Amino acid sequence: MKHFFLTAILWFGIFTANAQDLKSPDGNFLMHFSLEADGTPVYKLIYKGKDVIKASKLGFTLKNDNKSLLNDFKIEDTKTSSFDENWKPVWGEVSSIRNNYNELAVSLSQKETDRKMIIRFRLFDDGLGFRYEFPQQNNLIYFTIKEERTQFAMAGDHTAYWIPGDYDTQEYNYSTSKLSEIRGLMEKAYTKGNASQTSFSPTGVQTSLMMKSQDGLYINLHEAALINYSCMHLNLDDKNFVFESWLTPDSHGDKGKMQAPCKTPWRTVIVSDDARNILASKLTYNLNEPSKIQETSWIKPTKYVGVWWEMISGKSTWSYTDEFPSVQLGVTDFSKAKPNRKHGATTANVKRYIDFAAKNGFDAVLVEGWNEGWEDWIGHEKDYVFDFVTPYPDFDIKGLNEYAHAKKVKLIMHHETSGAVRNYERHMDAAYKLMKQYGYDAVKSGYVGNILPLGETHYSQWTNNHYQYAIEKAADYQIMVNAHEAVRPTGIARTYPNLIGNEAARGTEYQAFGNDRNNANHVTILPFTRLIGGPMDYTPGIFEMDVTNGSHVNATIANQLALYVTMYSPLQMAADFPENYERFADAFQFIKDVAVDWDDSRYLEAEPGQYITVARKAKGTDNWFLGNVNGETARVSNIDLGFLEKGKKYTAVIYADAKDANYKTNTQAYTIRKVVVTSNSKLSQFSASGGGYAISFYPVADAAKKK
Ligand code: NOJ
Ligand code: CA
Repeated sequence: MKHFFLTAILWFGIFTANAQDLKSPDGNFLMHFSLEADGTPVYKLIYKGKDVIKASKLGFTLKNDNKSLLNDFKIEDTKTSSFDENWKPVWGEVSSIRNNYNELAVSLSQKETDRKMIIRFRLFDDGLGFRYEFPQQNNLIYFTIKEERTQFAMAGDHTAYWIPGDYDTQEYNYSTSKLSEIRGLMEKAYTKGNASQTSFSPTGVQTSLMMKSQDGLYINLHEAALINYSCMHLNLDDKNFVFESWLTPDSHGDKGKMQAPCKTPWRTVIVSDDARNILASKLTYNLNEPSKIQETSWIKPTKYVGVWWEMISGKSTWSYTDEFPSVQLGVTDFSKAKPNRKHGATTANVKRYIDFAAKNGFDAVLVEGWNEGWEDWIGHEKDYVFDFVTPYPDFDIKGLNEYAHAKKVKLIMHHETSGAVRNYERHMDAAYKLMKQYGYDAVKSGYVGNILPLGETHYSQWTNNHYQYAIEKAADYQIMVNAHEAVRPTGIARTYPNLIGNEAARGTEYQAFGNDRNNANHVTILPFTRLIGGPMDYTPGIFEMDVTNGSHVNATIANQLALYVTMYSPLQMAADFPENYERFADAFQFIKDVAVDWDDSRYLEAEPGQYITVARKAKGTDNWFLGNVNGETARVSNIDLGFLEKGKKYTAVIYADAKDANYKTNTQAYTIRKVVVTSNSKLSQFSASGGGYAISFYPVADAAKKK
């Protein structure tokens, strides 16, 4: 009671002063909210006494409305509260997640217009989330956002790990530079060649944006729960190091169609003085709503192979025939067309992959290029490319599903939309029904090319609503979704755990794209950026780095193994050809063994752009798997195996780079050694340039049983 009065007095004092402080549960963060003299809302964030976000303004400009939502506010009310609960994700890096924060909701009203806006702040032990809410009211009902003007004022010229701002793609290599250097590097960073690209500013970058300050703070800016809103980029004022939100416009140049009551996504600032804590943060998921899917037994972490790398690397084709300059569904008679003999998705080839999957314990086989329409799918802004239900004559959809199911393997459906979003929506029910008919429970979708209707982009509110519609509709059919080229994830998989994967960054496919491949340190940055919002279908596991089309994969075999642990995903592909796995059967053993769902995860070493070392405990077992990926500079990790259960002996199988391995010229030089370890053991392990290592740990008794 005494406490209550004290806080009430404090609140009153602050109320009149137009300012209020909020602390994180552990007291390390302080968020300060205030109104400037002209009624502009401002916040700042301090971590362990250091400025993370200096005084930064909050608000919006509106279309056709001279009175913006930038100033002239007064505080009507403030409410503080605390929250602490543990929740269990359907799949994840850990089996239980703590959601613990202190909240401040500031209710504002604009003096002249009496418009109401609530700014809700949640301060966790790993950072801050805040969003704008517009309650039901008479003076602000339908409105169009011209600009969201949320600022993130950085305290210095930090090092940033960034990709160019773009309304259509995140498929870029990362640049590492000072904030002040972004403008000078933008042209070089903005590599061309993607089927759809729209840049907007010489200092525009995408989120999740990772930064490091000179005094050792790791700062990550992103968003959570991007629903019915446009994707946020950041535009930098590089004289003052102030980022401002830059929303993706719609086809009219507008940035958001709103109807109160409504809210924005959360803007997130994850901070630590230890890079490992950024990787371990669950703040993005915690800011999303709990699962809306009640019965989740059909959602299953999946390890898969596929008829895929052969098309990406130019060995075979998605298309069935080379006979026609173009095709039209319902008009072109494929049954009479001459096959090109390079088609990948043939019944015989798919059977080969099913046999391989069954023999090696994989759950599923992805098959791309199974359906009519691939002959002219790209580059024509063609609306009706695919119907998602008509197989090519050489793909026996019924027989192959029966063949697979008899071997306890599933086929993964593939829906390439070629950006024709309305066409996909028109066919979606029929497409999902066909999947159910044949027993598919997962779909990989794709959005290559400009979005149709023209004028919309991949990350506009309208298109984001489509991705959400596809996820929710798939959930109605109990179908898991892995969307490529869709907007980057923002933790929505907590609410819709059937969203088991996304691409939304450069995946392994770019390693086959000749002179514009992924940098060797790409995989040491992605967990700090793209993975902050959710898992990525990175499609690792390439063993033959010299690709059919002459390209070269920038990695060693040991690095490729480690990705199954460092790039957390409930969906993991073994992307290379069966014959390459057979050539290196001893290394392939790790991919067969590694889990895809976890009880626990420990980040042991991490520095963006340089290295990441993670250990994870496989769900429902005593087995651990460890992965290390390394950037350009060869190094030695010194790690402590204290995560293992005390008093237990484990057989550790260590798959590592040979001394002379490197990602350019000696990619297949690895060693495999077996040692017995305990939680007291220390490990000193070499990683080559662009290399890494992977370890499986089995309790000694189980390891004996396995043999
Ligand atoms: C791009 C995707 O990222 C890739 O995985 C897929 O094979 C092609 N589109 C074709 O759909
Ligand atoms: Ca892609």
